[in-house]
Amino acid sequence: MPGQKGSIRSAYYQLVQRPQESIEPVLPSVLLDRQLPRCEGSEELWTAIRELGLREEAEQPALPADSQPTVLIAYAPTALLDGCWLLRSVQVDRTDSLLGQILLDAFYLETGSGSATQHHGNLYRAALAAQGIAVASPQSDALCQDDRLTEEDFALALLGLRIGRASPSALPEVLGMHVAMTLWGPPLRVRSALAEQVQSQYLAVHQRDQKEQRCAEQLAKRSLLAYAALGTPAWDRLYAAAAALHHQRRKWLASLRPKRKQTAWQAMMTLVESKCRHGFGFHRNVQLQGRSLDAWFDPSKPNLAGFLATLARSPWVVPGHPEHSPLLQRTTQFGGSMFGVFDDAELAVLHDWIAALPDSATAPPSELSASEPASSALHDVSILLTQSPKEAAIQSQLPSLPIIYHRLLTAPHRADSASLAHQFLTQRLHAVESAARVEVLHRQGLWPWSAQRLTDWVDARLREQVAAGTAIDSELLGIERHLRRDQVLWLLCQLTPAALIDGAWLQGVASPDCSCAESSSLLFRIYRDELGAGIPHQHHGNIMRAVLAEQGVVLPSCDTLDFVRWPGFLPDSFATPVQWLAISYHSREFYPELLGLNLAVELAGVGQMYSRASALLRHHHIDPYFFVLHNTIDNGASGHTAWSVRAIKLYLEELAQCADPALVARAWQRIWQGYAAHDRASAPMLRAIALRLFPSLGLRWLRAKTLGIPAVEAS
Ligand SMILES: [Fe+2]
Ligand SMILES: [Fe+2]
Repeated sequence: MPGQKGSIRSAYYQLVQRPQESIEPVLPSVLLDRQLPRCEGSEELWTAIRELGLREEAEQPALPADSQPTVLIAYAPTALLDGCWLLRSVQVDRTDSLLGQILLDAFYLETGSGSATQHHGNLYRAALAAQGIAVASPQSDALCQDDRLTEEDFALALLGLRIGRASPSALPEVLGMHVAMTLWGPPLRVRSALAEQVQSQYLAVHQRDQKEQRCAEQLAKRSLLAYAALGTPAWDRLYAAAAALHHQRRKWLASLRPKRKQTAWQAMMTLVESKCRHGFGFHRNVQLQGRSLDAWFDPSKPNLAGFLATLARSPWVVPGHPEHSPLLQRTTQFGGSMFGVFDDAELAVLHDWIAALPDSATAPPSELSASEPASSALHDVSILLTQSPKEAAIQSQLPSLPIIYHRLLTAPHRADSASLAHQFLTQRLHAVESAARVEVLHRQGLWPWSAQRLTDWVDARLREQVAAGTAIDSELLGIERHLRRDQVLWLLCQLTPAALIDGAWLQGVASPDCSCAESSSLLFRIYRDELGAGIPHQHHGNIMRAVLAEQGVVLPSCDTLDFVRWPGFLPDSFATPVQWLAISYHSREFYPELLGLNLAVELAGVGQMYSRASALLRHHHIDPYFFVLHNTIDNGASGHTAWSVRAIKLYLEELAQCADPALVARAWQRIWQGYAAHDRASAPMLRAIALRLFPSLGLRWLRAKTLGIPAVEAS
């Protein structure tokens, strides 16, 4: 765990795979180092960071010619997460500004511009595969358990991960890291190791004269200008972040030098550590000095050094004589109880260990103590890997919706925000469990799962929704034509807690635990569109804010307490956006539900509903663009609805290739549970609105109907 011995792998694991249980992302202390050159402006900073990169290239350590695979494997924990330092900066509350949009574009570029095959992490994996090297993905447990990786390999990656999860006050460090990573690209040793590949796309996207690299540098430069425009730029902090990265990369490069050969005792200890994880549970009846081997191997209190010392004195081993030791000559040979457990290289380790044992067979104290950190590191990771997701005890009372909104939007780094989100979400999903029952799906023509059934169902919904939306404006309005102008504005305000964070349900797909698959790349494209695709005035939240401002309604910024306490809001107006934020905290765990919820959001309103909303606003001379835009951008042919359908198909088809059909069927049900949860979330707000408006609206409608008084006059 953070701050404890051997915790680097654990911290990496936790930041990648359990962001919802995130450790406090403390910035490395080297960032506070003040012995740094002064930079007065963005140009000077740019040059200074570039020079730092050149210095790194000049300081490359000499490595043996055959070290290329080692270098490439060692850089994997970092390369697979390319862009992760921007994670917090691309969340929905940071992207309504020009700087936020630029960083969003930079992140989009790092993650493949909407295509998983172009994701820089995936390109690196492909480059390794071309050299015959396989590494697990950061989304699996196996990467953290990979014996080929060292603590320094994870430490290098951890710097970016921590900066990417730091609070918005760490913006200068994010920018410093981003400029440095953009300018320097992968370390020279990594580039040289890949240089022999004829067509390494990973190298190409980082090559200085190539289009993508030029684009990345342009964005990085623009980010500095946008940052300067905010006033009082802290250039020294940006430089310090680059210096921290430089420092970490030097440490990493130094760690690549060939290690001192392990002693026979150390090699044996490493072997025992790797085996006992699998051996525990199989050796209840095998005794060593009155204790079962399972007791020696128990992951909750392993005593591997003691085990080895005892084994060395046991009848299985003749110290100094592997050729007479029953452990080597009988137990591990054909017919022995451990035949096939060790491969030839491992048997050689056993052989050397026994050969090196002095007659007294006692390990030197230094070797015993040297083995402790490794076993405690193992212990840390194994505990983390077996932990089930933490769920807070169910509170009888959650905070109010506006307060949850504020917390989930502004404090993602707080561990209790994650448990609050989890609790809220599971309650909401539980409430719509019945919508995913087989008989319900069957009735709707949705069972069993098939891509065609999904297409047919969505097409039918779109036809229903769109059919009535083609008439001219005046014919579109029903009872809502009797709403007064102030009531229409009030209605619009109820939509703003959601509209200002449009896209929030998808912000979790930016996280490294979700971002590499084809379906999540598609979801990220939708997310980027919701945020304006790099253009601040096209940011959906900004569009709604501008419409209201034109009408004299100026709301506080949505990440403030003043916003959630604004007296014009119904508390139920926060129900939908709170659900969006809650699922974004747990996108990996609730990925099928997220796919369903996303489809529900994108499909909702397309056609008649958006057209009627636009007509109503036009009727009162209020800019309808927010709704006009959604009717086009969410369209079912090539817009967000189409992408949402495709994301579900990609996910389920991929799952069907590697999972039991029962799991695919369950995922299909969970998708519909997510869909239903979105529909259900807006019900309380609609009820509250109806209660507020219906009495006077109904009266005006009745007067207009019975007395023939025109709507405008009636209002
Ligand atoms: Fe939108
Ligand atoms: Fe959309």
